[in-house]
Amino acid sequence: MTATKNLLLMPGDGIGPEVMAQARRVLDWLQENKRASFNIEEELVGGASIDVHGVPLTDAALAKAKAADAVLFGAVGGPKWDNVPFNIRPEVGILKLRGEMQLFANLRPAKVFDALADASSLKPELVRGLDIMIVREATGGIYFGEPRGIETLPDGTQRGINTEVYTTHEIQRVGRVAFELARKREGRVCSVEKGNVMESGLLWRQVIAKLQAEEYPDVKLSNMYADNCAMQLARNPKQFDVIVTSNLFGDLLSDLAAMLTGSLGLLPSATLGAKDAAGHIPSLYEPIHGSAPDIAGMGKANPLAQVLSLAMMLRYSFDMGADADAVEAAVERVLAKAGRTPDIAAPGRAVISTAEMGDALIAELSRVS
Ligand code: IPM
Ligand code: MG
Repeated sequence: MTATKNLLLMPGDGIGPEVMAQARRVLDWLQENKRASFNIEEELVGGASIDVHGVPLTDAALAKAKAADAVLFGAVGGPKWDNVPFNIRPEVGILKLRGEMQLFANLRPAKVFDALADASSLKPELVRGLDIMIVREATGGIYFGEPRGIETLPDGTQRGINTEVYTTHEIQRVGRVAFELARKREGRVCSVEKGNVMESGLLWRQVIAKLQAEEYPDVKLSNMYADNCAMQLARNPKQFDVIVTSNLFGDLLSDLAAMLTGSLGLLPSATLGAKDAAGHIPSLYEPIHGSAPDIAGMGKANPLAQVLSLAMMLRYSFDMGADADAVEAAVERVLAKAGRTPDIAAPGRAVISTAEMGDALIAELSRVS
């Protein structure tokens, strides 16, 4: 067993704390079975932090996130905070973490578990075996670009402004992540922008093409306009291996890709920064689903996306590939055998609670390892 790993858990709002509780059981299991040793701390984020501290992310919480070996994040937001000022909305918590920790590469896999091919809104034959990786740029583009704001014009009407902006360096660093991932997969990258309309998209296409020619000639590169990519994802999703795209397009396309898999409740993500001099990669892992305030506290949430986020953490931050495999295998077995949470309910299957899903998972973990 290697050195103790410092983890920061940020459960957040809505179903965040419920699903995090199940992920924590997996962390406990790993420790009890002497597979790893964790030093675990917890911090408030989002609305939960607003309620206590008046802001969605305190400086102290940010400092802890920066100091941790990895952050496991739940979800933020909910109608309770609809009327707080825009600059301290719960969502600012996650955006500030991405920005301040320079987590520029958001890895969003969309993978269909065999047992769930029927749960997709597309025909099973279109999605069975689907395995896409969307690499979304996460610290630039229109989410962070300046100028931004709402200004009042001389005639009293107003103007809302956001700016899409990308530099060569920002495009290159996220492009490299996509090409490296493709090398470990099917060796294909599709770069997505709207260079037919936006200069930032044109630059994106040029920089990615040059990068491929100079550093990744072994990887096959294609380009697609973002609107066409949305259409192609719904028409024939299995044509894709790795998709690399901007912050905003990645936000939209990853929700679409997620839905193809049958449940948002199953998809994890990793957001990674650049390796520092000490070899440390700043990293945050979170489910793709939101805080689902409508079912919060009812034991209906599916904890598997949070657990699979933890598996990504084991794989990417801690080089614990065998343990990540074990967690993923346990998830597959739970989906194939046990009852299911309401989001993936199927005829003839018992509907079980968040905690019962956790029970089934721990039982399978002991079996697969
Ligand atoms: C996501 C979410 C966030 C985003 C929100 C909560 C700020 O939709 O992670 O996809 O837009 O990036
Ligand atoms: Mg989103």
